[in-house]
Amino acid sequence: MQIVTCNLKEVEVEKIIILDTTLRDGEQAPGAALNSFQKMEVAIQLERLGVDIIEAGFPVASPDDFAAVSSVAKLIKKCGICALARCIDKDIEKAGQSLKHARRPRIHLFLATSKIHLKYKFKKAEEEIADIARDSIRKAKKFCADIEFSPEDATRTEKDFLFRMVEMAIKEGARTINIPDTVGYSYPQEIYTLIGEIINNVPNINKAILATHCHNDLGLATANSLSAVLAGARQVHCTVNGIGERAGNASLEEVVMAMKTRKDVFHNFYTNINTKEIYRTSRLVSKLTDFAVPPNKAIVGKNAFAHESGIHQDAVLKKRITYEIMDPHDVGISDSQLILGKHSGRHAFRDRLKTLGFHLNDEQLNKAFGRFKEVADKKKDIFDDDLRIIVEDEVRVSKPTWTLNSFEINSGTRIKPCAQVVLIKSGKNLSGFSSGDGPVDACFKAIDRITGYKVKLEDFRLESVTSGKDALGQASLKLKVGGTSVSGRGSSTDIVEAAVKAYIDAVNKIKQK
Ligand code: KIV
Ligand code: ZN
Repeated sequence: MQIVTCNLKEVEVEKIIILDTTLRDGEQAPGAALNSFQKMEVAIQLERLGVDIIEAGFPVASPDDFAAVSSVAKLIKKCGICALARCIDKDIEKAGQSLKHARRPRIHLFLATSKIHLKYKFKKAEEEIADIARDSIRKAKKFCADIEFSPEDATRTEKDFLFRMVEMAIKEGARTINIPDTVGYSYPQEIYTLIGEIINNVPNINKAILATHCHNDLGLATANSLSAVLAGARQVHCTVNGIGERAGNASLEEVVMAMKTRKDVFHNFYTNINTKEIYRTSRLVSKLTDFAVPPNKAIVGKNAFAHESGIHQDAVLKKRITYEIMDPHDVGISDSQLILGKHSGRHAFRDRLKTLGFHLNDEQLNKAFGRFKEVADKKKDIFDDDLRIIVEDEVRVSKPTWTLNSFEINSGTRIKPCAQVVLIKSGKNLSGFSSGDGPVDACFKAIDRITGYKVKLEDFRLESVTSGKDALGQASLKLKVGGTSVSGRGSSTDIVEAAVKAYIDAVNKIKQK
């Protein structure tokens, strides 16, 4: 608890701990799988965003997930790193080992407690479940002191049993008790009451922090999380853009901005989130998971601060607060102004990137600046959104196996389109030629000839980043390889080049899997 002075009165303000589970529950969203490198990119950004704890994965799930949690644990210094485990010995061991290098490790144990799960999933009685949880907490404590326990499906659990489980978990040493609304069934008043009842009926509750983990099946995840905070929860589980199992989890940006914007209600609380990093984090997660953010998504959607009707536009110009409850700058959205052109120098480029929240090292800056100059040669005006795409495309933690050297196409209404593509792999130029149904198809087939991969194009989209004939085009696509899908993105003022880059981006992910 902190004491702050407000209007010359001293008030107590309490921190709401933000546990971000984008890399665990978020990644469980069908099709959102991230490899270790991508998880590290997201983790670096989450650290910058100021989340308190990163739930980095479920290490027993696969060797890749284990590697990802270990890499994030080694890399991240400022946040606690959490690994998920069922109440099963091998899960706990893997979670413990994956956290070996974390500065502030946490094991998050979960075990379902609702009647439905006990009867159909486990076929076990309440006391057996309590014994399993007790043994697991004891085992997990051998690996790290910080244990979080989740009675899964808590909001559909018999209350007496829930209270007993929570009391036992705290007695065994769990420092955080999470109350998951696993299937997104609860509603704000109900979760408010439940948290209050836990506080009033669990004798040792003051020895632990209560957390909330709400799913969005009824579109209530954010509302339920806020309600839990008002009732006494002091940690919120959330994900960037609200991605997660089924309809997703409570969205970090919504929870944080609701508390910041409605200070009249949440005046007692603060979070450590640097809200100016929200927009950039949202874009990064959207790009790496290839989950597009719907235009009407609260806080980070393209239209969240756009005013279409003349009446609204007029009023906003007179006084912003007529129709805007938040300042877009507070979430890191700057007015998409005309900023740079081909005569702009490195200094102006670096300054603008800083304003947009990108902090690049010299090598990254050189790469991004080179690309900026290329784009500026073809495109007269470079807007903030163009810059974001340039940086996101050029600056990555991972080193791609294949990069584009050049391509040439021959296409028209009277000839069969054909393409010659040259890729670079380990410093060598490799060339492929093919015809196709169109110039893009011909390029894709030429790339397949070089890589030798048998892939199927599942999805292909092209959109312009900003307006104008010379706008940057961004291509997104999905390839099916064996049983799995990989996604890719690429941008250019030339739409065939954008498509080729997106294809190569996806092909590079096949190699890393
Ligand atoms: O939704 C859920 O119950 C979970 C648990 C693992 C906490 O994700
Ligand atoms: Zn969940």
